[in-house]
Amino acid sequence: MNDLDTIISSAQSAFAAASTPAELENAKAQFLGKSGQLTELMKGMAALSVEEKKTRGAAINVAKQAVESALTARRQALADAELDKQLKAEALDVSLPGRQRGQGGLHPIALAWDRIEQIFGSMGFDVADGPEIENDWFNFTALNNPPNHPARSMQDTFYVDMNDEEGQPYCLRTHTSPMQIRFATAHAKKYANRLQAPAEGGRSSFPEIRVIAPGRTYRVDSDATHSPMFHQFEGLWLGENVSFKDLKVTFLNFCKTFFEDDGLVMRFRPSYFPFTEPSAEIDIQFSKGPLAGRWLEVAGSGQVHPTVVRNMGLDPEKIIGFAFGSGIDRLAMLRYGVNDLRLFFEGDVRFLSQFR
Ligand code: PHE
Repeated sequence: MNDLDTIISSAQSAFAAASTPAELENAKAQFLGKSGQLTELMKGMAALSVEEKKTRGAAINVAKQAVESALTARRQALADAELDKQLKAEALDVSLPGRQRGQGGLHPIALAWDRIEQIFGSMGFDVADGPEIENDWFNFTALNNPPNHPARSMQDTFYVDMNDEEGQPYCLRTHTSPMQIRFATAHAKKYANRLQAPAEGGRSSFPEIRVIAPGRTYRVDSDATHSPMFHQFEGLWLGENVSFKDLKVTFLNFCKTFFEDDGLVMRFRPSYFPFTEPSAEIDIQFSKGPLAGRWLEVAGSGQVHPTVVRNMGLDPEKIIGFAFGSGIDRLAMLRYGVNDLRLFFEGDVRFLSQFR
């Protein structure tokens, strides 16, 4: 091995031994630096003849190129290794499931509420909305509740520490029935002229009232099937020729659609409400599902009492019809098979997300 080959192979092993770019630059200096081995050999050529310079110079150049290419290769190898190390350190596990945003959904009561509005809407009913803090007139008196009626007792009703113009305390409405009075009164005012005008050719000139009023209601009551705040929807249909038959068809159709049960049957059970006469509870029976065959009470109803019709500003001799009131929470419990009302109001996502 001549001196040049020795230099090349010792450069190669010095480069290979360098494990960092800094070490490699130091090793480079030993061969290609100002006083590096190859540089020294070049300097030594000064003493040679022209002919010798040619061959020696060429040989040194070949050796220099070999050293330089060994250097470049090692530089690349170190850079590759560095990149590799970095990639490994910052590695992403693409098989990990991504973090998702929680997806919201409607509350089961809101779902049932929407469904009720939709079904009654399809049967030509308006939807009305009214105050949850009511005065005595709308919640009781106008609805033909005698002053000593037990529904007024402190046990059932939440009272507000403030009196109305009559000196009666405001209360949180105990049912949605005050909406019968509010809606019908506004309706009667709006159509006062038409109501007084004689009917043309004996035909009805009364623009019918057909409305539901869903909303929050309050009673002092709390257990697995009662909550101090609950939801009802009131129905009212008044006209010159509206009967119990219409109530039965309307409510039965509603129940069949709401519960998606065409074989569902319904019955009226005689009952009492001060604001309807006659009055009836509405019971339904499913034709399928775990509750099939049992009578379930779902609403109170009746023909609107003449006194109530008069309190609406309408003539009970001309205007007749029915009202009903039903619990939205109860319907939601039956539809979704929920057995404890309190689940609706605890806000537990594990429960609520099942309705998404
Ligand atoms: N308001 C009654 C209740 O809350 C229900 C009802 C409404 C009954 C309309 C008859 C007519 O129990």
